[in-house]
Amino acid sequence: MLELKNVSKAYGDNTVLNNVSLNLPDGQTTVILGPSGSGKSTLLRFMNLLEVPETGALTVNGDSVTFGQRLTDAQIRSVRQHSAMVFQGYNLFPNQTVLGNVSLPPVLNGKISKDEARTRAQSYLDRVGMGDRLEEYPDNLSGGQQQRVAIARALAVEPDFLLFDEPTSALDPELAAEVTRVMVDLAQEGRSLVVVTHNIEFARTVAQRVIFLADGGIGFDGAPEDFFASDSERIQRYLSTYGG
Ligand SMILES: Nc1ncnc2c1ncn2[C@@H]1O[C@H](COP(=O)(O)OP(=O)(O)O)[C@@H](O)[C@H]1O
Ligand SMILES: [Mg+2]
Repeated sequence: MLELKNVSKAYGDNTVLNNVSLNLPDGQTTVILGPSGSGKSTLLRFMNLLEVPETGALTVNGDSVTFGQRLTDAQIRSVRQHSAMVFQGYNLFPNQTVLGNVSLPPVLNGKISKDEARTRAQSYLDRVGMGDRLEEYPDNLSGGQQQRVAIARALAVEPDFLLFDEPTSALDPELAAEVTRVMVDLAQEGRSLVVVTHNIEFARTVAQRVIFLADGGIGFDGAPEDFFASDSERIQRYLSTYGG
């Protein structure tokens, strides 16, 4: 379970999120939708403290932090261990091979030996269809391949929650489709996914839950079928812009 309670964030005069609360159970795919600038990335980054709210609290599977006070490294680590992020721009280490990119993080976390990490990396790279490119460097891969390596890297720390921030937005449709296929597999396995995307089809067909951000808060939180049937003017406007 991942719970954000009464979190807020402003940049100067710009209040991005105002007193937002949500509660995500395990084993579901949640899609976060909303217009550009509505705070989707900010909300997602709260979940593993890449961004720290000014108020409120975060609890992930029993570990909690309260905001508005200094957080210790140990507190940050305790919450962060439960999730891993996949970014729009892949963010692979350019000077590491595919195998290095996926096997290093769990070793750096101090969790497992190098040998174990390599075996584990190999199995997750097989899962995303990149098991035959172990010695390749990221620059020699397509964007879709790099993103699949990034997904394997996130899986390799064996997080409870996988967080995706517009994972296919930088990709041509064909390459986006190969990444989406991997995500659909993960969703069908019953993993806990939180996905910021403009891929309306993914929200409609894969998610169990839609959270819609608008005007500094949660404009909708519920089942996809209810979201797409909503007669809210704000939601209708979003869907007509983003291709619902
Ligand atoms: N580091 C920052 N400094 C100042 N403003 C920021 C920063 N990060 C985000 N913002 C602002 O916060 C708002 C929400 O940003 P973001 O969460 O990235 O939205 P989204 O992901 O929905 O497009 C935007 O208005 C953006 O300009
Ligand atoms: Mg964003």
